[in-house]
Amino acid sequence: MLYHASPERYSLMDRIYCRCGRSGVLLPKVSLGFWHNFGGDAPLERSRAITRFAFDHGITHFDFANNYGVPAGSAEETMGVLMDQDFRPYRDELFISTKAGYGMWDGPYGEWGSRKYLISSLDQSLRRMHLDYVDLFYSHRFDPNTPIEETLQTLVDVVRMGKALYVGISNWPLEPLQAAAKYLRERDVPLLIYQGRLNMLNREPIEEEILDFCHREGIGFIAYSPLAQGLLTDRYLQGIPADSRMAQEHFLKSDRRTPELLEYLHRLEAQGRANGRTIAQEALSWVLEQKGVTSVLVGASSVEQLKNNLQTIQ
Ligand SMILES: NC(=O)c1ccc[n+]([C@@H]2O[C@H](COP(=O)([O-])OP(=O)(O)OC[C@H]3O[C@@H](n4cnc5c(N)ncnc54)[C@H](OP(=O)(O)O)[C@@H]3O)[C@@H](O)[C@H]2O)c1
Repeated sequence: MLYHASPERYSLMDRIYCRCGRSGVLLPKVSLGFWHNFGGDAPLERSRAITRFAFDHGITHFDFANNYGVPAGSAEETMGVLMDQDFRPYRDELFISTKAGYGMWDGPYGEWGSRKYLISSLDQSLRRMHLDYVDLFYSHRFDPNTPIEETLQTLVDVVRMGKALYVGISNWPLEPLQAAAKYLRERDVPLLIYQGRLNMLNREPIEEEILDFCHREGIGFIAYSPLAQGLLTDRYLQGIPADSRMAQEHFLKSDRRTPELLEYLHRLEAQGRANGRTIAQEALSWVLEQKGVTSVLVGASSVEQLKNNLQTIQ
């Protein structure tokens, strides 16, 4: 059925958006990630329903990487289909990011941080998503063997070439992050945002002073896996559901479901009950309360999950 986005989608504009560092960009406090659940192995109609629900409720930011989906690249292909069928009229209302850094194709030019890899990868992403440009392009991980200037100058150049409007980095340690912020600022392509894993169970960006640095420098911070891939929800309270990420035993292993975790979740559940919130909402609120956090980047395998997550900020 032809898609008409909800006319109400910006009705909570004042509550839902947060300025990304010292930039002109406002991002929704909850953004949608396409790592899992949107690949070639996921039903297209479910992917469409989740994506439409997101946009209908003011989630304008969709996050990809070259290798997302099974097979790698297929989440971006799904976005290409959805662009053609649903979202083309809304392109200017969307803030779409992608990344390159992890292994994507065979041979010496299919991963890390060389100019050769990053530009080829971004071109592939644009073709898969049927886009002329992305709003944000990330270096997905720091490459200790490529001169940092090569990676960073490539980020500058993809903006100059019009392939990306802004640049970000993800998973970089503090010291190279500091060097990146300086290099990019001096070339008038300021670092828009840092993407790091932050949730109640993994606090590295706080402990490593990355979040604080971003906040002081006017760089946005977007927290990925804010629900610890589903651990910080009610998903695993009673067992391991057959359709859950943990059941796949790949990125989320069943040994993470420990008695200590269950005890922690029961405490969180009780705290949530007192606040009128679910476990997931408690977990997302905690991340959003950290000074310097612009947005939480959630995953969802159903509209229901996304709806629950969105209620955190509504
Ligand atoms: N930069 C990086 O290196 C990096 C790394 C990882 C992720 N990311 C980005 O961050 C995004 C989110 O990562 P993530 O998927 O790990 O995030 P997450 O939000 O921590 O976990 C999402 C999973 O939690 C479960 N879930 C979500 N909401 C729920 C709810 N309300 N109730 C019960 N269960 C719920 C679902 O699991 P089931 O699927 O089992 O239902 C869902 O797939 C990715 O899509 C990607 O864009 C970036």
